[in-house]
Amino acid sequence: KNVAVLMGGYSSEYEISIQSGTTVVNALDPEKYTVYAIHILKDKWICMYEGEEFYMDLGEFSVLLPFGKVYFDVCYNTIHGTPGEDGEIQAYLKMMGIPQTSCDFYQSALTFNKRDTLSVLRPYGIDMAQSVYINKGDVVDDAFAKAIKERIQFPCFVKPNRAGSSFGISKIYNEKGLAPALEKAFAEDDEVLIESFLSGTEVSVGVCTYQGKTKVLPVCEIVSENDFFDYQAKYEGKSQEIVPARLSDNQTESVQSLTGAIYEVLKLKGICRIDFIFHNGKPHFVEVNSNPGLSPESIIPRQAKAAGISLTDLLGEAIEAAMG
Ligand code: DAL
Ligand code: MG
Repeated sequence: KNVAVLMGGYSSEYEISIQSGTTVVNALDPEKYTVYAIHILKDKWICMYEGEEFYMDLGEFSVLLPFGKVYFDVCYNTIHGTPGEDGEIQAYLKMMGIPQTSCDFYQSALTFNKRDTLSVLRPYGIDMAQSVYINKGDVVDDAFAKAIKERIQFPCFVKPNRAGSSFGISKIYNEKGLAPALEKAFAEDDEVLIESFLSGTEVSVGVCTYQGKTKVLPVCEIVSENDFFDYQAKYEGKSQEIVPARLSDNQTESVQSLTGAIYEVLKLKGICRIDFIFHNGKPHFVEVNSNPGLSPESIIPRQAKAAGISLTDLLGEAIEAAMG
């Protein structure tokens, strides 16, 4: 089977995606799959072959290599952010009739939108932070700051609504922090969420379809050396990721079953990772990552290891699930 590993993308998460894609290229079983790295950039999609770049023909999703034309049976999608985690590539590939490993376009678009995911899950009674949503250009004056102080309180988080790897996120302690935090978040997206701070243990739970069933991976606890789990904490070693998390059996069970339920209720596919904060003893939902990182620093590879599943097996299962 010819597998196109899609990596890169247009967002700030480009570099992380290249690392994730490289993990996949190296981990897939070469006896089962012929693997090609496809770099997706705003102005070109290129297939890397023996160190050279070959342009993809997007009219038929093929590439002409020195030995002949290659068509692909399936895509392994490791793009974080746009256009691979927000439904764009999913919609294109669906129209082309090519299966891919992550969620369908609607689920990708939904889960990449933090606000919309919160509003879909809220009626199920899932605990979550208080949040306020604003668009670029909305009036941010003293009355707004006062409303944030009353409804959300300080400290709070200011986040781009559609982004990942903590790009554009600030934790702020008072009204004065609001303007610079909004500017930083609006640099990533034209929609912003302001969320209340939940004290407690932060955990992340991998979930996938494995041998035809929903499989929830061991829980990972995140201990950041920084003020929160920011980019530096995530990728530059300023955090500890502890698998399995130091939770009671009941807590572990509660967050794992919540993860499995969210995966099924939202009809997610492929390998996802859902983040929570244990606040007042209960898991509070934070977000779904529909194309979670697979870099050496990332959580999914650690969780697979703790579950006794090799990456080769886990990623191979994702391909088999995609191809149905
Ligand atoms: N957005 C990053 C890659 C993650 O969720 O792991
Ligand atoms: Mg994320």
